[in-house]
Amino acid sequence: MAKKWIVANLKLYKGKKETLNWLKELLKIVDQNKNNIVVCPSALFIDEAYKLTKNTNVKVGGQDCSTYVDGAFTGEISASALSEEGASVVIIGHSERRRLFFENNSIVLKKLEIALNLGLTAIVCLSGESKDDYVNEIDAEVRELTKGIDPSFAKKIIFAYEPVFAIGTGVSMEPKLVNSALAQIKTTTKDVFGKSTFAIYGGSVNLETASEFLKEKNIDGLLIGKASKDASVFAKICEL
Ligand code: 13P
Repeated sequence: MAKKWIVANLKLYKGKKETLNWLKELLKIVDQNKNNIVVCPSALFIDEAYKLTKNTNVKVGGQDCSTYVDGAFTGEISASALSEEGASVVIIGHSERRRLFFENNSIVLKKLEIALNLGLTAIVCLSGESKDDYVNEIDAEVRELTKGIDPSFAKKIIFAYEPVFAIGTGVSMEPKLVNSALAQIKTTTKDVFGKSTFAIYGGSVNLETASEFLKEKNIDGLLIGKASKDASVFAKICEL
């Protein structure tokens, strides 16, 4: 079976010491070859996280990047800075960025272009707003977020479907419904690029439910928030 993407989004959960201890514990216990493991800590800790992981199969990613390549943009963190620090992946357009920091699809598309041009793998989060008409929402958003992107980047893009009702609530979407949602990502990206991108799910996945998702055909992986806070739990999910 193809390897799945198992991504820890550590959000703003951990300080430096905690993050590095978490990572050391993960590296000690996890089977790094079963799946593609990505760890996304605070941008400030990417350098140290990269140093700990550079001879392993664990990749380090950013949680966001700037819409700008460079210039007078106080406080911004560019995709190239992330890459220089050792990130090979970046999450873009997470629903917390959309909801709390007013990002929309045109901002997300700008970030995506910049990240891809730097060679980063981009985890592009869809808004996940519609509860009933999610298939049409996904189709429309994927078309918007791939406008002008060269098809040669298809395999560097991982679309993440994280319905807002499922993020951090303890209530995830049914695996079968997620499978149909991600099937739409694959259909639309195949239509746009000639080949489909990866498609992953996030939203209240935990150790008990992760395998139900991973056995679905169209689910290429999981984006995990809360359940990744404990390294031993995250390690177990990485080994499913
Ligand atoms: P939870 O796993 O805490 O629901 O968070 C999901 C998420 O936002 C991952 O990016």
